[in-house]
Amino acid sequence: MAEQAPAGLAADEDFFLIPTHPWQARHLLAQPGVATAIRGGRIRDLGQQGAHFYPTSSIRTLFHPDNPYFYKCSLNVRITNCVRKNAIYELEGALQVTRILRSLAPQLLQHFPGLAVMEEPAFISADLKTGDAQSNKAITEGFGLILRRGFADVLRPGVTPLLAGALFGNHVYGEARMGELLDAMQRGGSPREETAEAWFSRYVGELMYPVLYCYFAHGVIFEPHLQNVVIGVAEGQPQQVFLRDFEGVKLVQERFGAEQLDGISPRAREALWYSAEQGWKRIAYCLFVNNFCEAINQIGAGRPALQNRLWAVVRHHLHAYQSQYGDDVSARCINALLNGEAFPGKANLINRFFKRPDRASGYLPVNNPLGTLGENPAWS
Ligand SMILES: Nc1ncnc2c1ncn2[C@@H]1O[C@H](COP(=O)(O)OP(=O)(O)OP(=O)(O)O)[C@@H](O)[C@H]1O
Ligand SMILES: [Mg+2]
Repeated sequence: MAEQAPAGLAADEDFFLIPTHPWQARHLLAQPGVATAIRGGRIRDLGQQGAHFYPTSSIRTLFHPDNPYFYKCSLNVRITNCVRKNAIYELEGALQVTRILRSLAPQLLQHFPGLAVMEEPAFISADLKTGDAQSNKAITEGFGLILRRGFADVLRPGVTPLLAGALFGNHVYGEARMGELLDAMQRGGSPREETAEAWFSRYVGELMYPVLYCYFAHGVIFEPHLQNVVIGVAEGQPQQVFLRDFEGVKLVQERFGAEQLDGISPRAREALWYSAEQGWKRIAYCLFVNNFCEAINQIGAGRPALQNRLWAVVRHHLHAYQSQYGDDVSARCINALLNGEAFPGKANLINRFFKRPDRASGYLPVNNPLGTLGENPAWS
């Protein structure tokens, strides 16, 4: 952190620097515990300093092109389901997930060379250790900052990272950008629909296999919604997929016992654990509803026949995953989807209405076209 500090600020060894999101700085300065610490000389407010960072799509995670890390800042603002502060157990959880994924990395890389997981190897915060436990906790959470590794070490030469949400979840910009990618990929006189199908097949191939494999083979539950997936494109085509956001990563409890997670607090363990069923619903929602439905809707806009062909691509890859990596458990989940069992749609609005935490989210059935597709010889 000190290396990235504005010149002259890192000199005082009695203090360490904690960057904060500018909105959060305003929030923190209004906290009585922070005001007392400033008056007592334990915290110094340095105001706005240094280079300008860019907000990413989550608003609270910040980026600077010369910094090897993204800064995932605390933000005491509710955005969609959650108040976006970095609770202490989330800080711990990010490091634990980093350790687990580091141990799986050689195997994952061997099977899925296009996959890169954006590690979150460190955090920083302040613990004032005053007699007021509640205020101390609020301050630690309010300053909590997670470091997420940037693209420098993982981006292959010539590859451009693009947020899946920007491509598929944003119809004006996304449609135009998708058109450019297909233009760049289209060779000779091949029909546009074939190019779109080939593009989407590469995308599904890069994303779905590692996400399913991590879950079925290792009990690691990613949250591959559009905002957590970055696609690396070269010559228009998906070449890499970057999975990010360890706050969204959960672990199947049956696979990760307390003894395996003994480096973290019981509270952090509780937050990481999901049942296998909860985990599957989350993955199935993120992949098929949040991600592929939007992608297919964007790529096949106004062309139902093309949309069916793109769903047939998903069906093909589900079959292929099962035959290459599958086991009995994955067979049950995948066959149910192939037979047209409804996708689980996360009921965010109901969840908000009842003020439930994210992990208590219910799911509603969403129409799954996989069971009723006509035969497509190219992808069956
Ligand atoms: N299709 C989408 N699905 C889910 N979230 C989305 C989508 N599009 C935009 N978002 C926004 O992206 C954020 C997703 O929340 P999430 O918990 O993944 O991010 P975060 O943990 O705050 O930050 P980061 O992703 O940088 O780690 C929310 O702010 C949400 O409103
Ligand atoms: Mg996210």
